[in-house]
Amino acid sequence: GSNYEYIQVSEPRPGVGQVTLNRPKALNALCTPLINELNRALAEFQSSPTVRAIVLTGSEKAFAAGADIKEMAPLTFSKAYTSSFIESWSTLTTSVKKPIIAAVSGHALGGGCELALMTDIIYCTASANFGQPEIKLGTIPGAGGSQRLTRAVGKAKAMELILTGRSFSGDEAERWGVAARSFPTYEALMEAALKTAETIAGYSKVAVMAAKEVVNKSQDLPLRDGVEYERRVFHSLFGSRDQKIGMKAFAEKKKAEWSDE
Ligand code: CAA
Repeated sequence: GSNYEYIQVSEPRPGVGQVTLNRPKALNALCTPLINELNRALAEFQSSPTVRAIVLTGSEKAFAAGADIKEMAPLTFSKAYTSSFIESWSTLTTSVKKPIIAAVSGHALGGGCELALMTDIIYCTASANFGQPEIKLGTIPGAGGSQRLTRAVGKAKAMELILTGRSFSGDEAERWGVAARSFPTYEALMEAALKTAETIAGYSKVAVMAAKEVVNKSQDLPLRDGVEYERRVFHSLFGSRDQKIGMKAFAEKKKAEWSDE
């Protein structure tokens, strides 16, 4: 039994867990209690025997309009430093091994954009409103935006976006490779996000986890080390039952029935 105030949790499709940010009065501004709930829900999905892929979304109007400016306004350096403010946001990048798809519609600003960038796949509406407007508030991105956005779009664009605070559309996000795909409507976005999650949920749990792990390594390791890391994990999958099951099913022209072993 999970009672949440700022999020909603469901399992809308076989194998798919969905977290919907639900703080409409503040356009899903990411206050600390919301982040705590999000982390709790994701931890439950991570340990769930049924959930195999996760969709993280907001409303049609706002994925999330950023960290909570009213919560941050009175914060001091010593409080922020000693409480490791914002650090807990990245729990999802370290402890959630199942794939997370962000379905972004409306505003994804500041911490909202950064939260989306922490996920594994971003789908968005063409009209979604991404941006790192922190400079307008006298501060800078604090949840990884200067690093992840720069890796996603390159230094030239990231520097311009972060120094001017200007927004970019979902359409641009797709063209620049921030988002994997963009959709004309909110309904099409949600349908595609759930369908993709369902597709991933239909594959071997072992292979899916390994695939996520090795792609993420590419963000941290030099190419030669990353390729070697991939090869090690690839070799190790010959020790899984699902590799045998998958390749045997191909040869027999049958659908693989995964063992998750
Ligand atoms: N924090 C707290 N409250 C927020 C918020 C935020 N980030 N964004 C919106 N809200 C609140 C507004 O204060 C308003 O509340 P009230 O009704 O009590 O006044 C309510 O949500 C609705 O917002 P608006 O009336 O402003 O809605 P709008 O449609 O006119 O404008 C918007 C939408 C352009 C997104 C505008 O709300 C806005 O600019 N929000 C702030 C965006 C921003 O600067 N985000 C970055 C935050 S800093 C950060 O995230 C740091 C980090 O890197 C971790």
